[in-house]
Amino acid sequence: MNEEILKRIGKDFATINLNPGRKVYGEKLNKKGSKECRLWDPYRSKLSAALRNGLKEFPFKKDSKVLYLGAGNGTTVSHISDMCTDGMIFGVEFSPRAMTDFYQMALTRKNVAPILESANHTDAYKDIIPEKVDIIYEDVAQKAQVDILKKNADAFLKKGGYVFLMIKARSIDVTRSPQKIFNEVANHMYTHFKVIERIDLEPYEKDHMCLVGKYEL
Ligand SMILES: C[S@@+](CC[C@H](N)C(=O)[O-])C[C@H]1O[C@@H](n2cnc3c(N)ncnc32)[C@H](O)[C@@H]1O
Repeated sequence: MNEEILKRIGKDFATINLNPGRKVYGEKLNKKGSKECRLWDPYRSKLSAALRNGLKEFPFKKDSKVLYLGAGNGTTVSHISDMCTDGMIFGVEFSPRAMTDFYQMALTRKNVAPILESANHTDAYKDIIPEKVDIIYEDVAQKAQVDILKKNADAFLKKGGYVFLMIKARSIDVTRSPQKIFNEVANHMYTHFKVIERIDLEPYEKDHMCLVGKYEL
């Protein structure tokens, strides 16, 4: 754990607030020394849930460049923005409703670039991302998620870069066992990435799994 950017407050994880005094999604603020921290709610962010469940691979650094697919309202992006203060987070989101909140949050942070587009359409945002990124984080809750991840990795990820894939079993098949679905997705992911960690997100997210991989093949 990189304690310079990721803090521990009791059993909670927290990031140093880039905008002291300002909350993004109603999270608690807490002073730690001279810094103000934003508690990272594991029920609102799958990356925080993965950390609470023992995630070991955490390649985020101050200067990381991150492509985030499925930014939603920007809850998780805001914590990554707190950590990657000298880097950049490109957040792709295709829902205009979610983008409204995400855009408002991005206006207050210099290291967040919101992109209103489908993560399937890499050509549409290739001119906005000037150089290869270190990490791709995907949370789109779609059946074709591994194909979307592969397409974006081929276009934007450095060799040796990391991928984080958040899988929601019910958006793939509501009738089948989540464990079987997770195994299938992991096997599919193995064909394009070296899968290095797998974290179940219960009890924070039911039937969700976090897969971490490296782009080395
Ligand atoms: C589970 S929510 C994301 C929550 C967010 N990652 C967070 O932790 O704060 C999934 C989001 O992915 C978006 N999404 C789904 N398919 C997409 C696609 N093909 N391109 C861009 N966004 C997509 C949805 O509109 C939704 O906002």
